[in-house]
Amino acid sequence: MSGLKESKRGGFGTKIGIVLASAGSAVGLGNIWRFSYMTGQNGGAAFILIYLGCVFLLGLPVMLSEFSIGRHTHSNTMRAYLKLAPGTNWFLLGGMGVLAGFLILGYYSVVCGWTLEYLFQSALGNMSGKEPEAFNSMFSDFTSSTLRPLIWMIVFLSMTHIIVVRGIKKGIEKSSMIMMPMLFLIMLVLIGRTLTLPGAREGLSYLFNPDFSKITSSVVLSALGQAFFSLSLGMGCLCTYASYFPDNTDMVKTGVEVTVLDTVVAILSGVIIFPAVFTFGIDPSSGPELVFVTLPNVFQNMIGGNLWAILFYILLALAALTSTISMHEVVTAFMEEELKISRTKAASIVTFGCILIGTFCSLSFGLLGHVKVFGLDLFNLTDFVSSKVMLPLGGMLISLFTGWYLDKNILWEELSNRSTLRFRLFKAYLFIIRYVAPVVIACIFLKEIGVL
Ligand code: TRP
Repeated sequence: MSGLKESKRGGFGTKIGIVLASAGSAVGLGNIWRFSYMTGQNGGAAFILIYLGCVFLLGLPVMLSEFSIGRHTHSNTMRAYLKLAPGTNWFLLGGMGVLAGFLILGYYSVVCGWTLEYLFQSALGNMSGKEPEAFNSMFSDFTSSTLRPLIWMIVFLSMTHIIVVRGIKKGIEKSSMIMMPMLFLIMLVLIGRTLTLPGAREGLSYLFNPDFSKITSSVVLSALGQAFFSLSLGMGCLCTYASYFPDNTDMVKTGVEVTVLDTVVAILSGVIIFPAVFTFGIDPSSGPELVFVTLPNVFQNMIGGNLWAILFYILLALAALTSTISMHEVVTAFMEEELKISRTKAASIVTFGCILIGTFCSLSFGLLGHVKVFGLDLFNLTDFVSSKVMLPLGGMLISLFTGWYLDKNILWEELSNRSTLRFRLFKAYLFIIRYVAPVVIACIFLKEIGVL
């Protein structure tokens, strides 16, 4: 590895930039949209408690494994395995990550596009004075139309593209330094509003007073899947980011900070959403449409409704954008380095590829609604294959790779910065990635594909 080549690759400039960019990847639609409806569907506080256990006991260790692989090799996620395990098939794990990145970004962008439409409609004031039923039909009319969702999806992917093309420091780091503080600020303003609603007490009790009778095996497994999705684990996303970390980054500390930030944002979005849901007597378990059908209703019933709606959809879009750039980067870095083409060209291939995948996913709500594979429409099929099969499988294999194949000394070197930092829990970390994570993840995986 020549020093020259390394420096040409670029990297993050500041510690805070590293934390905000990684947290930006983790904090996304998963924390606000997915977390709130999963919490609603799985009975509230008890689900959150198990989710927290999964995040810190399984998610954090797997994150440290991804960080170690990435920074040790300073390579895209497939090249990393080629360097660490030459002559073996482990590179396929990296290849699967790249493919998963493509697929997840494709359908994730569809939902990102929806956030822009909702932002646009609230900014125009078109959401005011609607009857509850109207929001239902607004959602289904919009998502099933052909052109509009596609245009918003392309707009969102173009924004992602522009940031990624500018590179790590000037694109990803700089944009995260601007967008993440904005995101926290908007969250605080929204919390201030919803905590003063009459239903705040009931909403908070739903979030923080666990009813243990609600815990079933399916609740546990949903919490695990949500933890991986939310922390961006399983496809080499944080591995790719870590390949741009300098050698003096304290990765254990960074990992803890990213995990805590991601968790705080998830809980706080619950604090924004549930008091509102209970104030207006809405069923918390309404599912994926919670933030697109239920919440607009709630906003319109609050004084200054449009303003809150605008702020909320800006929040969603910002969170989504820092996540899409991280998925885009995984594939762009791979294309750029493996096909030896310019970053701009690599990014363009990725953007066009995702537009193509996203188009099929988007049209599956309307025009292509009749196309079913294994009984799933194209949107749900892509979601299923990528996040429910590839991510858990990837997470399990990453644990096995770092736990059993990789030399322990490499992990120690990376996580302690060649023994210059203390990492007292190193043994516990090893135990988790060797035994606990593979077994538990295998269980989620088998459950998700319906074997267990
Ligand atoms: N974590 C992001 C969210 O919560 C989504 C995401 C970004 C992701 N990169 C990822 C999910 C990699 C899985 C793998 O919305």
